[in-house]
Amino acid sequence: MKKILIVGAGGQIGSELVTYLRGIYGGSNVIAADLRPNEKLAADGPFVELDVLNQNKFAYTVHKNGVDTIFNLVALLSATGEKNPQLAWNINMGALNNSLEIAREYNCAVFTPSSIGAFGGDFPRDNTPQDVAMQPDTMYGVCKVSGELLSNYYYSRYGVDTRSVRFPGIISNVTLPGGGTTDYAVEIYYAAVKGEKFVCPVRDVYMDMMYMPDALRAMVELMEADPAKLRHRNSFNIASMSFTPDIIYNEIRKRIPEFEMTYRVDPVKQGIAESWPNSLDDTCAREEWGWKPQWDLSSMTDDMLEAIRKKNL
Ligand code: SER
Repeated sequence: MKKILIVGAGGQIGSELVTYLRGIYGGSNVIAADLRPNEKLAADGPFVELDVLNQNKFAYTVHKNGVDTIFNLVALLSATGEKNPQLAWNINMGALNNSLEIAREYNCAVFTPSSIGAFGGDFPRDNTPQDVAMQPDTMYGVCKVSGELLSNYYYSRYGVDTRSVRFPGIISNVTLPGGGTTDYAVEIYYAAVKGEKFVCPVRDVYMDMMYMPDALRAMVELMEADPAKLRHRNSFNIASMSFTPDIIYNEIRKRIPEFEMTYRVDPVKQGIAESWPNSLDDTCAREEWGWKPQWDLSSMTDDMLEAIRKKNL
């Protein structure tokens, strides 16, 4: 990776990936693009206002800057997707389709995150294998499975260097996620620091989660991995921790004993959560490109609470 374009850069992952990649590859070599202006992303490197569904402007941005790698982070998340499935399909698949077509024309590598949301139907919930039938119940999941297939197709048919991981819920403290089923695991930390009672929308369900620093490192390690060692491409299971709302609540209470949580179950989110894996088997990622998480629930909780406290909310 020498010249990188991140589309959807203003979102939860993008806003931290831009900074992380600029630190490694140099500010001027990482172009951030988003639908809306973003002063933070424009402060220490190039920024382009870009609607990824505008294929001409997207292609022009790639061509003009000599981009060799595209990170496509444009997506409506699972709960929002259920409110407007057609819009989710148009945006999620439109962004991917344009990324792949432009990559084919200008010889770029493409990273597109897949998700635990790609799973669904009848499959082993615990230690969910890498290769298993995927029949998601959400439009978000339908887009993720379709995206995995389309990305593999572009690799085998056109030789486009497509790579991807199935991200768990990502926990971070810079930009809030929006419209996802796993968002509660971010929001709970903010409530705890602000001294508010947390009302949790899902109950008694395990989901895989990951702290942002591990997620950022995973993207770079996969994109820099020796292609000869990759038997899979789109997409790798990766995992670092799995918990229920009660487990994360009790972890926070070890540090903030007066913190309170109640439940008001959102049936859409609860249904989605139950249709997803409890925990992923990430053996293939470990074997093919050396994936290894560095954060667990305890170290993440210490770090999240400290980072949010510093915001003086
Ligand atoms: N975090 C996403 C969601 O909850 C899953 O990839 O929709």
